[in-house]
Amino acid sequence: MPQPDPFQTLLAGQLRQAFDDDRDADTFLLRLDRYGPELTASLQATYGDAAPALMDRLLELMLHAYHARPADLKRLDEARLLSPDWLQEPGMLGYVAYTDRFAGTLKGVRDRLDYLQDLGVTYLHLMPLLQPRPGENDGGYAVADYRAVRSDLGSMDDLSALAADLRARGVSLVLDLVLNHVAQEHEWARKARAGDPTYREYFHVFPDRTAPDAYERTLPEVFPDFAPGNFTWDDAAQGWVWTTFNTYQWDLNWSNPSVLAEFVDIILHLANRGVEVFRLDAIAFMWKRLGTDCQNQPEVHHLTQALRACARIVAPAVAFKAEAIVAPADLIHYLGSGPHHGRVSDMAYHNSLMVQLWSSLASRDTRLFAEALRVFPPKPTNTTWGLYVRCHDDIGWAISDTDAHRAGLDGAAHRHFLSDFYSGEHPGTFARGLVFQFNPQTGDRRISGTAASLAGLEDALESGDPRHVEAAVRRLLLLHAVTLGFGGLPLLYMGDELALLNDYSFAAVPEHAADNRWLHRPRMDWERAADAHANPATPHGRVNAGLRHLIAVRRGLPHLHASVESRPVHSPDPCVLLLRRDHPQGVMLAAYNFSEHTIDLPTWALRDHLGDHARDHIAGTAFSLGGGTVTLEPYRALWLTQS
Ligand code: GLC
Repeated sequence: MPQPDPFQTLLAGQLRQAFDDDRDADTFLLRLDRYGPELTASLQATYGDAAPALMDRLLELMLHAYHARPADLKRLDEARLLSPDWLQEPGMLGYVAYTDRFAGTLKGVRDRLDYLQDLGVTYLHLMPLLQPRPGENDGGYAVADYRAVRSDLGSMDDLSALAADLRARGVSLVLDLVLNHVAQEHEWARKARAGDPTYREYFHVFPDRTAPDAYERTLPEVFPDFAPGNFTWDDAAQGWVWTTFNTYQWDLNWSNPSVLAEFVDIILHLANRGVEVFRLDAIAFMWKRLGTDCQNQPEVHHLTQALRACARIVAPAVAFKAEAIVAPADLIHYLGSGPHHGRVSDMAYHNSLMVQLWSSLASRDTRLFAEALRVFPPKPTNTTWGLYVRCHDDIGWAISDTDAHRAGLDGAAHRHFLSDFYSGEHPGTFARGLVFQFNPQTGDRRISGTAASLAGLEDALESGDPRHVEAAVRRLLLLHAVTLGFGGLPLLYMGDELALLNDYSFAAVPEHAADNRWLHRPRMDWERAADAHANPATPHGRVNAGLRHLIAVRRGLPHLHASVESRPVHSPDPCVLLLRRDHPQGVMLAAYNFSEHTIDLPTWALRDHLGDHARDHIAGTAFSLGGGTVTLEPYRALWLTQS
């Protein structure tokens, strides 16, 4: 038996005195036993000598938050500890919406819960709703106050009430936690600008260009078009302030332990209000190191581990989702590798899958898709992917030259083709989109547009040709089938369930005009929602019904539990992507035809994985794979299991 550490025993004794209730004390101390070592290791690795004092500070914050945690949330904590794989279940479905664009206010969202539940939503990400700076605010990602709700949307009490309503229906509330920066109007920045040295240390402020110039040598630009460079001169602060994104978004200095303590406090505060998942916005940028691109630095993972350990001790119902739009080899660390395995984010966006969906749709060729997935590092089995067709951001062509090369393509030429295709410049394209952030130095052109417009529905409706409309509807359902059939948490982006088209009115809104990502941030069209129901033969009715069907089928397929990986397997036809899942209940093979052609797939390609008989769960048909071919209509998806 290992001897108990006398210091730990003393600490436990002291901590116990902070509780009236022995069971509460036991719970807290057990969790501290479990997660304390992860926390101290991360603090030590990041802050060295400053770690012990910081640990004391964090303990105080955690005790306070634990005592303040409402009883129903403590009950949720217990429930989640009994189902640690809750985010991985095939019944989970995400929905991502702007509160105002979806339902006006938080109270308005409460009135729309039947709609969400009817769709099968179990996870509701409400886009930035904390108090932003006035005027331009990067869609709310410039937060001025983390403890207040944007006043036109409601109050903190409205947020708690909504969270409780959602919880009662088995829906988790998800909020953005903007970690990398605050608005220049945030109290910390205001104090820094007023000359308070404590708060100046919360940011990276340099008296002259020496350090900024040195960093700039290896820094990329996120918004080369409307916010070039990474530093902004501030008169009040008398210095160059690090501003990776817009000039009004001040990057935080996470090497200052106080910044970590502030965020632990914010997370626990919001968790006690009922927030269940935090989307860790722009997490890759948190730590700066000279001579690097200042992304994906090892300290980022220590910091996440520290934040997560604190959350697990006080509020184990809470999960983290990493918003790291980075290369696959870097991305995997956000789900935990090496000593961080299973200790950082529970979920991360699968940006690469999203990019490959659009790439294959344009090229009618899935070889690059399969190649990219083939070399994708496997994720820890207790984590999950956030899978999406579209989100509120632009699409950047994150396709590596080496993957392209292995698929017989030239990376730069293919990226160029995709930008042409989705901005409507390529001859014969079906897509309608806009170029976002043309970078003359790299030639990069990112793309804005809604899923429906990019998949051809806008163009098809204008052409009036029913064959084009048919193809666009099928393309949309194919993309949804891949994300729903991949094994992870699909994140439906508001409006995509109704095939909403591009919203060109953003150009008339002064705060939005310069940022064409607003093209794909339309207002919810409730009339169309009603119409989709009443007229299921309309294009939006068909997309809606098709999507609902896929969601229902998915919910009943244990093979789609996210602990299992989807792996590409050899496909005899480049138009068809074959993905295999080795689930203990049997093999599942998904087949996706990314073209407008009818493909006759030789049965051996499926028999090798499924044996002689298979069943497609989408159409409910049985296939005999003894010989001959299986016909895949244009854009057809099959979810096959052995039968
Ligand atoms: C994330 C958001 C994006 C925002 C950026 C800065 O990437 O998704 O919309 O502009 O962070 O906060």
